[in-house]
Amino acid sequence: MSAPSHPERILICVAWPYAKSATHVGQIVGSILPGDIFARYWRMRGGDVLMVSGSDMHGTPITVDADREGVTPRELATRYHRQIVEMLDRLGIGFDLYTETTSENHAQRTQEFFLRLLERGYVFKDQMDSPYCPHDRRFLPDRYVEGTCPYCGYESARGDQCDNCGRTLDPTQLLAPHCRLCGRPDVEIRATEHFFFDLPKFEQPLRAWLLANKDHWRPNALNFALNWLKEGLRPRAITRDLDWGVPIPLPGYEDKRIYVWFDAVIGYYSASIEWAARRGEPDAWRRWWIQPPGQPAPSRSYYFIGKDNIAFHTIFWPAMLLGFGALTLPYDVPANEFMTMGGSKASASRGNVIGTRDVLDRYGADPLRYYLASVLPEGRDTAFIAHELVRRNNDELVAAYGNAAHRVLTFIQRHFAGRVPTPGPLAPADTAMLDEVARAFTEVGAAIEAVRLRDGLSGAMALARAANRYLDERAPWKVIRLDPQRAATTMYVMLHVLAALKTLFAPYLPFSSQRLHELLGQPGMAASSPWQPEQLPAGRPLPPPTPLFAKFDAASESA
Ligand code: MF3
Ligand code: ZN
Repeated sequence: MSAPSHPERILICVAWPYAKSATHVGQIVGSILPGDIFARYWRMRGGDVLMVSGSDMHGTPITVDADREGVTPRELATRYHRQIVEMLDRLGIGFDLYTETTSENHAQRTQEFFLRLLERGYVFKDQMDSPYCPHDRRFLPDRYVEGTCPYCGYESARGDQCDNCGRTLDPTQLLAPHCRLCGRPDVEIRATEHFFFDLPKFEQPLRAWLLANKDHWRPNALNFALNWLKEGLRPRAITRDLDWGVPIPLPGYEDKRIYVWFDAVIGYYSASIEWAARRGEPDAWRRWWIQPPGQPAPSRSYYFIGKDNIAFHTIFWPAMLLGFGALTLPYDVPANEFMTMGGSKASASRGNVIGTRDVLDRYGADPLRYYLASVLPEGRDTAFIAHELVRRNNDELVAAYGNAAHRVLTFIQRHFAGRVPTPGPLAPADTAMLDEVARAFTEVGAAIEAVRLRDGLSGAMALARAANRYLDERAPWKVIRLDPQRAATTMYVMLHVLAALKTLFAPYLPFSSQRLHELLGQPGMAASSPWQPEQLPAGRPLPPPTPLFAKFDAASESA
């Protein structure tokens, strides 16, 4: 596939969280925060950015929990959707649209996909064997049947997947299956009619796509996808015996629904259309999506996901896009590994998750974002360790970045009447500091563009440390009496560095960047500052400063 016609038109697709719990830290760190950092960067770069996601409201993940609570799936999903939206807002996640799969538009787009694939011969009807509970008189899709995993022996494997070894399962493979509704072991296998997506038809085009221009992909996603292809693709059922989900747009299937994963991935597309409609520019979504045959990609599309979703984003969804036609394929699928909590994989079903609300209440958005960005599981699993969050806050945000800002801004209040001083001639140390600023923009930008977001963050923090060293070495508090002009130059250079830090950190720390932006007397919003050094005019009055960050009490952290 050729290079996109507009390399700075960026579509950012973030995995849709199931609306079955409030967001937990694993979801924030796995897909939501990296997507937001990436989007904020590209907006500052003047890119044409569209970032979408929403709550995944359908399927057995929702109905199983709703059954247990005795509420309807819609009630359960709506309740958690609202909680997710509230957390995203408090965390400063800047989606262009965060919607939900229960919208009318989403159902229509899903049905349009289904019918187009059917028409083109990529979807067919067939009988399949499915577990059936004679007591409950119903089929038991996916999570309604549990049993022992035939691969690893885990006893609570679900019909669709084993949470222990991660393998995708067919419910008929489960050993000692039992019904999750009534607990009875007398699960029968009965034939039922379903629609299947003919994945084998896409083997060749998928292989060609995966083997071309994927040097920028992380090995986890690429190897996973290539291995899947090597094992051979099989048709996959895309409907379920369920009454919750997108209806099948054909008569005679009123008691079946479209499979949740088939509709969820279409969410990226339907949400883009909804965003455009809400803006009153109903065709605007097309500039990221539409790619007529033989034409270059209209945009670069990035799918921010956790590693458990790789197959759906590198095989299943690309095949759907190919079958539908004239829609652009993923440019990159930066899949993250897991963040473990207290020693094992964070998973709502295991109950070892850290709720976003708890850590937000405790630490606030930017310290949490900073810590999570510094331990993003980009190449391997990482662990959430509360005392590490505290240490990084105290040693890095407070002692390096915040301290540099506070020392300079209070010094200017005291010795320069709170105004940006006029610099004298630059000494080599001043020029060297300014050169480091220019280099930081290049390096941090390159890291973020390559989706090495941890590296980008440490590049910004390295500049904060260099600024403190420069300040110590120039010692303006010592020279202010004898050589006020040199002190003025140091302050001028430091203001330049602070304006740079405010921008370099902005994708990661939107709230404190906005505060520093205001403390520097800059007009407009930090989030829309261009990605480049800024000049502060000499003589500009600066407001009295307050510290950007507060120290946490290290002793109070047990974890
Ligand atoms: N809800 C799914 C999960 O949490 C992810 C859906 S991603 C999408 O695992 F591509 F389907 F949207
Ligand atoms: Zn039963």
